Amino acid sequence: MRRFRINKIFWDSYAPVYDEKKKDFDLYLRHKNLKILKSFFSSGQTLLEIGCGTGTESVEMLNYGCKLVLTDISFEMLKIARRKITTVANTSGDNFPKVINLPAEYIDSFKIQFDGAYSSFGVLNCITNIENFFQKLHKVLKPNSYFITSIINRWYWGDFLFFTLGITNYLRKRLKGWGYISLDGKESNAVARYYSINDIRNFSKNFFSIETCFALPFLLPPAYLKPTERLPKKILNALDKVESIIWHSFPFKYFGEQTVIVLKRL
Ligand SMILES: C[S@@+](CC[C@H](N)C(=O)[O-])C[C@H]1O[C@@H](n2cnc3c(N)ncnc32)[C@H](O)[C@@H]1O
Repeated sequence: MRRFRINKIFWDSYAPVYDEKKKDFDLYLRHKNLKILKSFFSSGQTLLEIGCGTGTESVEMLNYGCKLVLTDISFEMLKIARRKITTVANTSGDNFPKVINLPAEYIDSFKIQFDGAYSSFGVLNCITNIENFFQKLHKVLKPNSYFITSIINRWYWGDFLFFTLGITNYLRKRLKGWGYISLDGKESNAVARYYSINDIRNFSKNFFSIETCFALPFLLPPAYLKPTERLPKKILNALDKVESIIWHSFPFKYFGEQTVIVLKRL
């Protein structure tokens, strides 16, 4: 409970600068996750977004034609999401999504079952009891529906390279399995835990099966290294071409910086 409260305070304080900090990431990698979401979800479906943050993906999925219920632990994140949807998404009146300040730990509070759910970029790394979360999520999803989540991976091959070259020191945190979330190089007291695909398989096995997964990214440098500023476009394009072939293949999909996991509700 204590960690959960601390995380909420951290995310509220992060909210006003979140979009600015994630700008590079949004331009560089976000579209890959959205492509996966759009390939598994259809326009017209009612989806639950867990940890929607400032609503960047909510806008895209609304414009794609999905109906959404947005949830997040942070009231400040939701305020920005609501504003963004009002100004950018093609939605109004009855189509305006429900925006609910709800921790993922209470996701079974809904009385309806959704056509699917998604939770992008590290939300699951912040949840206090992930096994319990899958059990609760199972209750609010229709049978055979998809839950698509992107998590910070426990085993990223690039950590070993960047550690050896003295570029980053994320290796230590990932090997330990958890770490305090950093903002502008300063550690907060909010905790993130790191999971492998096998961890997620074990936590969810009574409620979901893993359909497929994707490394995000495997070969392209992670957004926090600012590759778009440091590498010529030609090299990035070449890496991206190879990336789009291998991101879904064994063993590469197991060793990306983040992993997009597509789970099917049993
Ligand atoms: C890295 S941000 C990702 C936001 C958004 N999904 C995106 O793709 O930009 C993590 C989000 O998870 C939310 N969060 C953290 N812990 C949570 C929890 N226990 N329940 C619900 N949301 C949580 C934070 O408030 C934050 O908005």
